[in-house]
Amino acid sequence: MVSRIIPVEPFDLVIFGGTGDLARRKILPGLYRRFCAGQMPDDARVIGAARGDLSDDDFRDMVGAAIEEFVPKDRRDAKTIKEFISRLHFVTVDAKGTDGWDALAKLVRKDVVQAFYFSVGPSLFGDLATRLHKHKIANAEARLVVEKPFGRDLETAKALNAVLASSFDEGQIYRIDHYLGKETVQNLMAVRFANVLFEPLWNAQYIDHVQITVAETVSVDGRGAYYDKSGAMRDMVQNHLMQLLCLTAMEPPSRFDPDAVRDEKLKVIRALDAVPVENIVRGQYGPGDDVEGYVEHSENPDTKTESFIAMKVDISNWRWKGTPFYLRTGKRLKARMSEIVITFKETPHSIFGEDAGSHANVLTIRLQPDEGMDLRVTIKEPGPGGMRLVDVPLDMTFADALGPEAEDVPDAYERLIMDVIRGNQTLFMRGDEVEAAWAWTDPIIAGWTERGDRPQSYEPGSFGPEDALMLLHRDGRRWREIRK
Ligand code: NDP
Ligand code: BG6
Repeated sequence: MVSRIIPVEPFDLVIFGGTGDLARRKILPGLYRRFCAGQMPDDARVIGAARGDLSDDDFRDMVGAAIEEFVPKDRRDAKTIKEFISRLHFVTVDAKGTDGWDALAKLVRKDVVQAFYFSVGPSLFGDLATRLHKHKIANAEARLVVEKPFGRDLETAKALNAVLASSFDEGQIYRIDHYLGKETVQNLMAVRFANVLFEPLWNAQYIDHVQITVAETVSVDGRGAYYDKSGAMRDMVQNHLMQLLCLTAMEPPSRFDPDAVRDEKLKVIRALDAVPVENIVRGQYGPGDDVEGYVEHSENPDTKTESFIAMKVDISNWRWKGTPFYLRTGKRLKARMSEIVITFKETPHSIFGEDAGSHANVLTIRLQPDEGMDLRVTIKEPGPGGMRLVDVPLDMTFADALGPEAEDVPDAYERLIMDVIRGNQTLFMRGDEVEAAWAWTDPIIAGWTERGDRPQSYEPGSFGPEDALMLLHRDGRRWREIRK
């Protein structure tokens, strides 16, 4: 594989919340890796901003320590860390006050690409946009990177879109969903639209059902306050699983450009049916032998927040009517495993008779870990004694197929930040897309809130609640096993 690093233009990237968890764990180590890859031009600068009283040197020390902690040893060295942190600056700024804005205005250059990353709590997104505009810091091409969550329902998302729109054009707003920055998620589009093989079969006539699983082993320990207000539906389904569903179900865009792709995703979201209560299973992890349950991680002893959700979703359009999409995500499950499984229908008629059994092709796209794809095909079982059939895998792990360089691909945040600097919005959510996603999500959440539904308890390290298995069993189907 040939590695092609495309250098970006000189930039000033201001990270509001530059001392926070996300900046230290993902954004700054990611920028360091892009620096090492030679993608940051000589006069690119990164400016941390937060209320803390830090000098440039304090911030540089903090970032140096974050790189030591979050970049693997074999990918860093003292010399490049020193060079990278010399590009860093820090300004003390209060998003809600007047402090620091004049200093920031003096520091940020007007004649380079400007990017402002809002890596602060969501209640500050509107304040930052308004103040950037008021203090005339941002130029007409400046880019705003807005973290999740983007609102907590349709009303708040619309309000946030309106505040941003009062100071910036939609073409300047980059709403992050880091799943779109994952290499394998983009690969989903390549598999679908760069091969002639799949697209003719990619519809309800040939596909029996689709499963999308994002299983995690982590708990919400330390994030209970956030998670209580969010739950798996808001934290994972409304954004990450929705994006996976859109990329799987959308029509081929005419071009790989921001609006062509986002128009098609929007059409999928708008075609989603309301989900009846019997098609939803919510779960909450209970305590295990040596691990705490969700209740211990929550701030509310009577919490009804779901840490797991499974649902059957129907798409009302010509391509998908009659082919259900089963979505499932949860914390503290048996393994960390994200994949999309496309189960094709059986052949319309078996020439081999009943003894041959029933067989269906299954395409599995493994998003993480062990990135790759696997197509189950049916062949003759070797040996004499008639025509017995057996299903075997055509299995490809991307790392094996592409060689060692496949292991060195940028992580989601690195890729997305570089897209921001390049001014490419394809992998970012448009305002109307986010609103449509909330318009579908809101009634589902309102339904269980009004009924006072309590999620079912499930064992840590399991597949989630039993009823999630039943969601498929009752349709004569089975989930792919969550496996290590
Ligand atoms: P943290 O609480 O760790 O950091 C918040 C940062 O914001 C700190 O640097 C803080 O510094 C700064 N800040 C707080 N108040 C102000 C203010 N009034 N003016 C200026 N700066 C302020 O949060 P995270 O880093 O975890 O999260 C940041 C954003 O990223 C959130 O929107 C979150 O939802 C999102 N996100 C985070 C993920 C993660 O893994 N952490 C994952 C996905 C999304 P100071 O107090 O000194 O001002
Ligand atoms: C975040 C969610 O957006 O995505 C977390 O807030 C979740 O709850 C995380 O753990 C999963 O991301 P990844 O990249 O580890 O699959």
